[in-house]
Amino acid sequence: MILLTGVTGKTGGETARQLLAKGVKIRAIVRNAAKAEDLRAAGVELVVGDIGDAAVVRQALQGVEKAMLVLPNGKTQQANEQQFTDLAKAAGVKHLVKMSSMEAVPHAETPIPQAHWAVEEYIRASGIPWTMVKPNFFMQNLLASANSIKTQKKFSLPMGEGTTGMADIRDIAAVCVEVLTGQGHTGKSYEITGPEVLTFHDVAARFSEVLGEKIEYVPMAMDQFRSRMTGVLEPWHLDAVCGLFREIAEIGLDHTTDTFRQLMGREPRSVTQFVRDHIAAFRG
Ligand SMILES: NC(=O)c1ccc[n+]([C@@H]2O[C@H](COP(=O)([O-])OP(=O)(O)OC[C@H]3O[C@@H](n4cnc5c(N)ncnc54)[C@H](OP(=O)(O)O)[C@@H]3O)[C@@H](O)[C@H]2O)c1
Repeated sequence: MILLTGVTGKTGGETARQLLAKGVKIRAIVRNAAKAEDLRAAGVELVVGDIGDAAVVRQALQGVEKAMLVLPNGKTQQANEQQFTDLAKAAGVKHLVKMSSMEAVPHAETPIPQAHWAVEEYIRASGIPWTMVKPNFFMQNLLASANSIKTQKKFSLPMGEGTTGMADIRDIAAVCVEVLTGQGHTGKSYEITGPEVLTFHDVAARFSEVLGEKIEYVPMAMDQFRSRMTGVLEPWHLDAVCGLFREIAEIGLDHTTDTFRQLMGREPRSVTQFVRDHIAAFRG
């Protein structure tokens, strides 16, 4: 049995759907059973409750051989993931896969990658065989700008002239499926990127090519982003996200890896492919 978290979210949900398509038996911890009704109907065993609740996690871990931990960024992420690790160890889990991030490095300077790195270290010290999946910026984050692209032919983010090697969550999930069902992945950290390093101006150019009309990227001042998101994200999370985006603007995620190709035997999806596959969301 494989236990997943975050299946009503982006990467956890896509991983669950790809595992189901392969006929793999899975269980998931969900807060809201109604949101996971499609997955339950497709055969996912649901344990309903909050991941911070040790009794819920203990129940979900019964008879589990492998687990994948995906949680959103927030003040409680590190504590919840460390508690999950302790409970997984006690339950005899034989392989723990953590969704981390490429920015999670020993000397990370902002809270989100710092928390990921701290959890990675905690898992490595736990003695449970592990794999870290460390993606670049998700292409699917661009869907948050779909309305602006559709109606104003532009999008605005506080990433300045910074670069990413953004990756499609369908590819990130495919790596998670391979890690959970294949051999030889324990003790490995996999940095997953798309095929190219791009500024957001380059991303806008990819949109223009596919949509056949000029799409512009307009860098947003960080203060403007902060005031726009005040009240949308809680203060810890907003500060942390601003820190992360400032790093992209100032330093950038400036390299790609060939990890995806080595693991999956094909090229990762490009931004062009991503836009083509979501054209209905972006075309006016
Ligand atoms: N976005 C990026 O560009 C990027 C890049 C690299 C790494 N990452 C990492 O990816 C992770 C986020 O993944 P994602 O975007 O796939 O997540 P997501 O779409 O935000 O989904 C989060 C999932 O976790 C569930 N969840 C949240 N709190 C919970 C709780 N207390 N108990 C049980 N379930 C809970 C949510 O359930 P509900 O539906 O009930 O809310 C949802 O299913 C983060 O750790 C982030 O650092 C992100």
